[in-house]
Amino acid sequence: MTDSLPSIEDLTPAQAAAEHARLASEISEHNRLYYQEDAPSISDAEYDAAFRRLQDIEAKYPELATEDSPTQNVGAPLTSGFAKVRHAVPMLSLGNAFNDDDVTDFVARVRRFLNPPEDEPVILVAEPKIDGLSVSLRYEKGTFVRGATRGDGSEGEDITANLRTITDIPATLPADAPEIVEVRGEVYMPKSAFNALNERQTAAGDKVFANPRNAAAGGLRQLDPAITASRTLRMFAYAWGEISDDPVGTHWAFLERLGVWGFPVNPLAQQCAEVDEALAAYRKIGEARPTLDYDIDGVVYKVDRLDWQTRLGFRSRAPRWAIAHKFPAEQATTILSGIDIQVGRTGALTPVARLEPVTVGGVVVSNATLHNEDEIARKDVRVGDTVVVQRAGDVIPQVVEPVLNKRPKGAKPYKFPDHCPVCGSEAVRPEDEVARRCTGGLICSAQAVERLKHFVSRNAFDIEGLGVKHIVAFWEDGLIKEPADIFKLDQAVIGEREGWGEQSAQNLIDAIAERRNISLDRFIFALGIRQVGQATARLLAHTYGTLEAWRAAMDAAQDIEGDAYSELINIDGIGPSVAADILAFVHEEHNRTVLDDLAEVLDVAPFEQPTSDSPVAGKTIVFTGSLEQMSRPEAKARAEALGAKVSGSVSKKTDLVVAGPGSGSKGKKAEELGIETIDEDAWLKLIGG
Ligand code: IVH
Repeated sequence: MTDSLPSIEDLTPAQAAAEHARLASEISEHNRLYYQEDAPSISDAEYDAAFRRLQDIEAKYPELATEDSPTQNVGAPLTSGFAKVRHAVPMLSLGNAFNDDDVTDFVARVRRFLNPPEDEPVILVAEPKIDGLSVSLRYEKGTFVRGATRGDGSEGEDITANLRTITDIPATLPADAPEIVEVRGEVYMPKSAFNALNERQTAAGDKVFANPRNAAAGGLRQLDPAITASRTLRMFAYAWGEISDDPVGTHWAFLERLGVWGFPVNPLAQQCAEVDEALAAYRKIGEARPTLDYDIDGVVYKVDRLDWQTRLGFRSRAPRWAIAHKFPAEQATTILSGIDIQVGRTGALTPVARLEPVTVGGVVVSNATLHNEDEIARKDVRVGDTVVVQRAGDVIPQVVEPVLNKRPKGAKPYKFPDHCPVCGSEAVRPEDEVARRCTGGLICSAQAVERLKHFVSRNAFDIEGLGVKHIVAFWEDGLIKEPADIFKLDQAVIGEREGWGEQSAQNLIDAIAERRNISLDRFIFALGIRQVGQATARLLAHTYGTLEAWRAAMDAAQDIEGDAYSELINIDGIGPSVAADILAFVHEEHNRTVLDDLAEVLDVAPFEQPTSDSPVAGKTIVFTGSLEQMSRPEAKARAEALGAKVSGSVSKKTDLVVAGPGSGSKGKKAEELGIETIDEDAWLKLIGG
């Protein structure tokens, strides 16, 4: 993994210190991305390699292992010391647009969903996307009572005392403010303050910050608010969470109200009609970017009408009514010192470029993705080449192309391995796939460890204090081989291990015990089935309800002529290809044992149907023919929000068919099966207009 780096034995003490400082700052940033932003920008294996190298350097130079080194707070770095705050209204993330076409598609999607009169424009608000940390500020009866970080979106940390030191944040609101209101926005460090801070740090011999965002994060996470106060932090407000009297009208009017209440609202925000004006706003903000005293990494477009926002709602973790249009990636050139192959949990071999460290857009990059075999061949990148690398916002850095006139003599085309670099099994590439996969399956340790890492990851079991490094160490020492082994770990055995004590071992055992109760959708996601992400896991949980029912249905679906199979592939969002991966997974002998073992140690809670007393809750509905009052996507979203399942085809399991004109074969089938069929008007009445 670190073959291409000089051996630590060969480093002079000064070189070791320099590399240590760089690695420590990179790892801290990755910790922050992983734990606070839920947006890791490197793979687990890359993280591990960097971490191991840091440990190795500290083994040789123990004086570098200072208290603030990432090696000294493994597991839940930075999280200690702050109380948790559950967000009453989740703090969402945004979908991304990388070019004009993506924005055009976004506006078209919004239009299709809302289906407004043709002459009614979709008004958007375009705002700079501030590159800082999002916070939620709670006011009760006009007084600032609590401020929290975003955390994982559902739960953040209480940083009230630190936020009180930021003068942009009003301590009280005027009398006309709602009794309860959570104002959301971005805390950032101005570039001028960042430069001054780094000058002071250098003068004092302290570490410098890689960019204003890191510096702002460090400032917010001080346990001593006096230190936060000494860092100039500012904030822009742009949204709200819980609010006692719903804002009416438009997002624009709400921004104006925020201004009246005393919050800084970004002066470049503007209303625009349809995609052309939105793109013009994007260019204007892009032109202003170099002159601003704060970093921005794109433009956010939000549908202005709040009633439309409500109708559009959310999908997974991002609203349908907003999107972030990113600025183009920043580029730099550096030398490709090696290509490593990583093996993922499904066996896919992924090539990773090892680079001589280079700063791209304010972040030091030493690894970048090369995607797959074909990409390397297409770009013909060779070890030793000078390459162009780019990094856009929080996206993984990429190798763009080699600089051919700098190619060293004798550089050879890269030959992609046909064997797994970890277990030595043959690596094959199915005809219709881009990935070459290790065929080692269970004997491949890389796959086993990656599966375990996925199992405990944030959106899966999310076991506090059981980080990637522990998984690897426990696996290597034979303490954990299978997911169920996690729940059988012995406090005494852990406590004896290096770096652990009785108390920390007990904390881990407690954290694990806390996760014995898990929701069905998290459980299915944690299994790491190919193509089954959070959204698909949720669909499965929603459809089948309990672990037992899901497993029984998957067994029955083995017969692809049967009803169980058609029910599976008819779930809107799951097709034959996803179904094939699910079925292959659950029928694999070893996976059956894994599932049986887990069922023994866990309490998998039935899926909680969205609470709704609507008559359509729990029903399976099929829409067919054309709808006139509501677009198909909106009808589907409404039905799902009321707790119904929407299926693509009519079967015995269908409870209700909503048929518009031209319903054709589906209408006929419903009639044959005697399924209740209603028209659009009756449907609207049923769901309350
Ligand atoms: S709106 C439901 N507006 O971007 C939408 N977010 O990628 C909530 N951000 O976590 C976000 N500037 O930290 C919004 N003008 C802006 C923003 C902004 C920066 C950040 C925010 C959020 C992230 C989403």
